Amino acid sequence: MIPQPKVEEIINASRIEEVVGDYVNLKKRGANLLGLCPFHNEKTPSFTVSPAKGIYKCFGCGKAGDSVRFIMEHDSLSYPDALKYLANKYNIEVEEIKLTDEALQSQNERESVLIALKFASDYFTQQLWEDEEGQTIGLSYFEERGFRHEIIRKFGLGYSKEGWNHFYDHAIASGYKEEFLKRAGLITVTEQGKIFDLFRGRVMFPVHDLSGRVVAFGGRIMKKDPKAPKYVNSPETEVYHKSDILYGYYFAKQEIRKHDRCYLVEGYTDVITLHQGGIENVVASSGTSLTEGQIKLIKRFTENVTILYDGDQAGLKASLRGVDMILEQGLNVKVVTFPEGEDPDSYCKSQGGEAFAKYIRTNEKDFIIFKSNLLLAEAANDPVKRAEVIRNIVESISKIPDSIKRSVFVKECSKLLDISEQVLINELNKIFRNRKKEDKELIKPTHEESLNYEELLEQNKVEFADENINQEANVIEVLIKFGNVRIEEKTLAEIIISAILDDQINFRNPVYNKVFVEFCHLIDNTPSEKWTEHFINYKDENIAQKMTAFLIDDDKYLLTKRYSQAESRIHISEMLLQRNMKEHVEAIIFHFKRKRIDELLTEFKNEVKNAYEKGEDYTALMPTGKYLLDLRKEIFGDRGTVIVK
Ligand code: CTP
Ligand code: MN
Repeated sequence: MIPQPKVEEIINASRIEEVVGDYVNLKKRGANLLGLCPFHNEKTPSFTVSPAKGIYKCFGCGKAGDSVRFIMEHDSLSYPDALKYLANKYNIEVEEIKLTDEALQSQNERESVLIALKFASDYFTQQLWEDEEGQTIGLSYFEERGFRHEIIRKFGLGYSKEGWNHFYDHAIASGYKEEFLKRAGLITVTEQGKIFDLFRGRVMFPVHDLSGRVVAFGGRIMKKDPKAPKYVNSPETEVYHKSDILYGYYFAKQEIRKHDRCYLVEGYTDVITLHQGGIENVVASSGTSLTEGQIKLIKRFTENVTILYDGDQAGLKASLRGVDMILEQGLNVKVVTFPEGEDPDSYCKSQGGEAFAKYIRTNEKDFIIFKSNLLLAEAANDPVKRAEVIRNIVESISKIPDSIKRSVFVKECSKLLDISEQVLINELNKIFRNRKKEDKELIKPTHEESLNYEELLEQNKVEFADENINQEANVIEVLIKFGNVRIEEKTLAEIIISAILDDQINFRNPVYNKVFVEFCHLIDNTPSEKWTEHFINYKDENIAQKMTAFLIDDDKYLLTKRYSQAESRIHISEMLLQRNMKEHVEAIIFHFKRKRIDELLTEFKNEVKNAYEKGEDYTALMPTGKYLLDLRKEIFGDRGTVIVK
């Protein structure tokens, strides 16, 4: 561990323009520096570095941070390793806090296991290239599969000879301890104490960790033996946690970042063949469905995954289920299938890399659409099955964390399934409500918590006042979502609209402004139960999308969040809930007005200044200014409450 004062010293010494400058060609642009972003592909520079603030930000891909963050991201280093890198660059001596003897020992032991694995890997490659059996069986097998020598070397492929102890004997003779060979998963010791190699008569695929160290192996059988498994894989060890490793990740990570997409295949050979075809942003799950750890790994470099499925229909349906977890992690998932009987390996080989890449691009389908089509074809005209399909798909949509993306899918699936969007939204909200109910059962409210209700209300007020909150979005959320709720004989929409119209304030965001104006007409001409539908099907696609996103409950928007939290924490009677809602709406309107009036005042001042500088007459502007100032006084004047009429 690096002591805290040292950490600060390193951070203070690091000059962002120098740290980034080692990797990116930076040009001066005003107070900032500008260059091509190292985290995504771009032709015009949008990567800016601010020496004054000590930070970088890319306006293309959104990556941002300080010197430490840059090194962590760029070199895939951990926080302490990035600090060490910087310390080294600035000649700062780092004496780490000493590990305890126990920790030191376990680190040394881990190291010993890794060294044994490296030794094994070198041995297997040496056998492949130099041993006669290795050459005639192993190397010629790879050659027949079409692997070129340089790719065999790049992936460190090897060969383990037929026989019980070749590797073991060689390792012991070279001074390796049996214990570490065993802990590395390279040998097996039977109950009777018999020892033999785990890999015998197999071609070897080393598995690398993030930093390129060999942590495990997969060995493919060479002889025809229906009883023996096609692949033998290393067991779980102290250095190999299957669920946190993807085959090929070490070789793919830079390309994944560059293309902002990760291709996911099943097997070792798929990865290697694609690499050989020039497609390097590819990793394999090694035959099992993806784990959360593996998804997180992908997410470090991209949010876009394309799954390349084998042409086998039965396996396809089974693997659909696993994909919801990928969606849940916020990744965008696409799917490509191949002709019956082909896998990415065989198809890439027969078509060639370029044609293969083109095939992927033209056949890529969004996962949810793909799944809908697949399941629908199966359900045909059976209404019961169809209902099930719909539930199944809505379940998938509900896993997507981003509300705008969800609403896009609601729209597309509504067309595809020939069902109104409102029905899909209702289904979605049912799922969300059930989830909340489950949460609620977990958190039983205590008596004290009920007493804290007033306090909770106070906290809410503070949160509504938060400058980071999009006050305009808050108002629109309430309008669209709770607009038809009646409080004391009036709808909330009427209350909000008159509170805003009376002060003649508009919205800065043009979309929200349009929705607001539209709402003003709606409340006079359309029954309240039709309001939401009106916006879901709104002719302007952009507006429809945004409003649909508001309608789906996901706790992202303030009021919804308040309610679900309050509901899950304390029992509140309906009446209290209503009183509470009214207070919240008042607070929302107040903060919206407060912010908006200040914006308008700033605009006004600028206009006056401009006119003055140009020598124009600005007296005509004055009434506006006076109006705004009066309004401000009126609203701020009395203890900060808004008068709701
Ligand atoms: N696998 C495994 N154990 C098995 C079979 C498969 O661990 N008995 C894993 C391997 O990681 C393999 C992947 O599942 O790479 C995909 O299996 P498969 O398609 O059968 O293997 P390929 O890699 O395509 O090998 P080959 O083309 O040589 O048959
Ligand atoms: Mn295969």
